Amino acid sequence: MTVSESAPALEELAERASALDTADPLATLRQRFVLPDGIVYLDGNSLGALPAAVPGALADGVHRQWGVGLIGSWNEHQWWQAPLRVGDAIGRLLGAAPGQTVAGDSTTVQLFNGLTAAARLRPGRRLLLTDPGHFPTDGYIADSVARLLGLEVRRVAVDDLPRCLAERGDEVAVAGYSPVDYRTGELHDMAAITRAVQDAGGLMLWDLCHATGALPVRLDKLGVDLAVGCGYKFLSGGPGAPAFIYVARRHQAAFDHPLTGWNGHADPFGLNGDYTPAPGVERARIGTPPILSLLALEAALTAFEGVGMEQVRAKSLSLTGYFIDCADTLLNGLGFTVVTPRDPHRRGSQVALRHPDAYALVRALAARGVIGDMRTPDLLRFGVNALYVSHRDMLTAVRHLREAVTRGEHRDPRLRQRATVT
Ligand SMILES: Cc1ncc(COP(=O)(O)O)c(C=O)c1O
Repeated sequence: MTVSESAPALEELAERASALDTADPLATLRQRFVLPDGIVYLDGNSLGALPAAVPGALADGVHRQWGVGLIGSWNEHQWWQAPLRVGDAIGRLLGAAPGQTVAGDSTTVQLFNGLTAAARLRPGRRLLLTDPGHFPTDGYIADSVARLLGLEVRRVAVDDLPRCLAERGDEVAVAGYSPVDYRTGELHDMAAITRAVQDAGGLMLWDLCHATGALPVRLDKLGVDLAVGCGYKFLSGGPGAPAFIYVARRHQAAFDHPLTGWNGHADPFGLNGDYTPAPGVERARIGTPPILSLLALEAALTAFEGVGMEQVRAKSLSLTGYFIDCADTLLNGLGFTVVTPRDPHRRGSQVALRHPDAYALVRALAARGVIGDMRTPDLLRFGVNALYVSHRDMLTAVRHLREAVTRGEHRDPRLRQRATVT
């Protein structure tokens, strides 16, 4: 690399990366993924890399289970149980005992289901709380649920929640928040927020898209009411992988699902005209599940075998902390601001940098083999999946970023032209 870096500082960073990677107990897990040579992949918070177990599982699902087993595979290969089986496997990463998590549909659909059912569990309360900085779909769905049920949505930032709960807590039916801000990577205190909402008599629904597979969540221990999340980010289940919903056992008997599909019926093959919900979390099923996608997600989850979420968290914090150190040293004076909290207790599994030319810089980086992404208007995001990212990757990414900006690559008009997906 020809960039004019202070040699001793760079040497020190490189030595640190090498020492940290050598001591990394999770280093071999990278072999559980298929990553193209020469690529530094820091977009696993958007689309996880391909787990090595997935292609074989999909081929088996297609050729043997579907091709040979045909319809008999619903029983023979237990396709029917897949949403619950995969749900339980996800639940293990979330501190959820079996029988509370169902895999299927998209996060957006599961948000609709969870918010509606939560509001029905708190009749007479008319307030839905959501984060003004939430991923847009969360706010859109809260608005729609409120319109359907005649409720009111209030967008309340996490810092303003205590005041809102003090003023109108007795009206709150449900609060839907995300522990990790999808733009800045800020981590909120799940335990404190859950307690505050529940103390006011409301229910807590967490959107775990940026937490599942990235950090310990402890749903049962925190007494969370409901949670949803996706399968395609840190779980690496593939593009459009099934999402999930967690319904705490104590709420299941009264959980009134808004989408009363036949898969959630107590006797689905009785084909009755009247809907009777299944007794447990099965009532959170809807229609025929996407079996091939579930098989891919199930295989992807084997990448977590033998790995504790505490270990994943420790490595993730080491990676993001080291990335921030690299940025402080190598990007100093080049127009970047680290917006992700430096306090490890307040940091999710990504680092976001602010720069006015974020979009073109992310594209310049991609041309150099470093894949991150951007969030409008000016954030570069670097997601860190501790299962396949190394400290060396962090240093490589920051060095390329320094070189790209120093050479003015982001001024290339071709890189400034927007693509459909950013
Ligand atoms: C916090 C959060 N919720 C929801 C979604 C997306 O929902 P869906 O999986 O339905 O597209 C995202 C996508 O990035 C997200 O970051």
